[in-house]
Amino acid sequence: MQSLTIRRPDDWHVHLRDGEMLRVVAPFTARQFARAVVMPNLVPPITTIPAAADYRERIWEAAGREFRPLMTYYLTDESNPDVVESGFNDDVWIAAKLYPANATTNSAFGVTDVHNLHPTLERMQRIGMVLCVHGEVTDPDVDVFDREAVFIDRVLIGLTRDFPDLKIVLEHITTAEAADFVRDAGPNIAATITPQHLHLNRNALFAGGLRPHAYCLPVAKREKHRLAVRAAAVSGLPKFFLGTDTAPHARHAKESACGCAGIFNAPYALESYATVFEEEGALDKFEGFASEHGANFYALPLNEGTVTLERDEEYVPERLGIGDIELVPFHAGQRLNWTFAG
Ligand code: DOR
Ligand code: ZN
Repeated sequence: MQSLTIRRPDDWHVHLRDGEMLRVVAPFTARQFARAVVMPNLVPPITTIPAAADYRERIWEAAGREFRPLMTYYLTDESNPDVVESGFNDDVWIAAKLYPANATTNSAFGVTDVHNLHPTLERMQRIGMVLCVHGEVTDPDVDVFDREAVFIDRVLIGLTRDFPDLKIVLEHITTAEAADFVRDAGPNIAATITPQHLHLNRNALFAGGLRPHAYCLPVAKREKHRLAVRAAAVSGLPKFFLGTDTAPHARHAKESACGCAGIFNAPYALESYATVFEEEGALDKFEGFASEHGANFYALPLNEGTVTLERDEEYVPERLGIGDIELVPFHAGQRLNWTFAG
């Protein structure tokens, strides 16, 4: 196949940041995707209707009005079901994000015990609002590589039992346990999959030295898990869809004694995914994953229009320097098999 045209896709999980960084990174997402679910882990986090509406304005200023940011609300121990419902009814946000407290970047205000969320989750279940979950326990006794699988056992199974009709997206899955759980759960349980978790296993973090640009959370796992996540992505099942988790941090913040978690994959996201689907002999499943399953799960219309990828080598630069900000994109210095033609 020399060229691949698909319905215009959406990204169901992005970090667009704020200020100068927002202005630098948002155009990359808007170039490839019609809509994106925007994570609320700013400092301070997005916990009110005005904060979400103002942030959406700043995103429009950075990315253009054509782009449709789908906002999310940051759940805390103090979340109020009435606020969550009115932001949803007023089309300010489409989902709420559960960060277990201290699981990842800017999650200090996250939830210490999901039981604190029960009134809010009950309301979300009733109104059909999606819960996006960062599925990792934070117990320091749990090995970092086990945190997703343990979260499923200790938290997620209970949530799905207590709220059997709640729509849940288990974000950025990294394990066979997560892929199996989502596949076998009801139709109201889905998962996003990032490009990095399709390309990298945990060896990538230590290839010839410590590799900060391969570090994100949840961290990449063993090869058998990468293969399980790949199988899920190309399965054609409507539960699995595209969510890049593009998470830019300035180069100096990544290349540091305590480097930030997050991979900036927005610039070549579709090329990266297409390379995987081709390797798996599943290009026929790419459109569903990128452009249909997510919208159907969120009960939103499919996009009009198309994008085209051409089978042509794409060289990914070592660095992207824009203004005062220097970023290292995912696949820096490598070649991908596909080029985004617009
Ligand atoms: O690697 C990550 N980076 N994982 C997350 O969950 C958050 C994100 C960020 O905001 O940097
Ligand atoms: Zn994320």
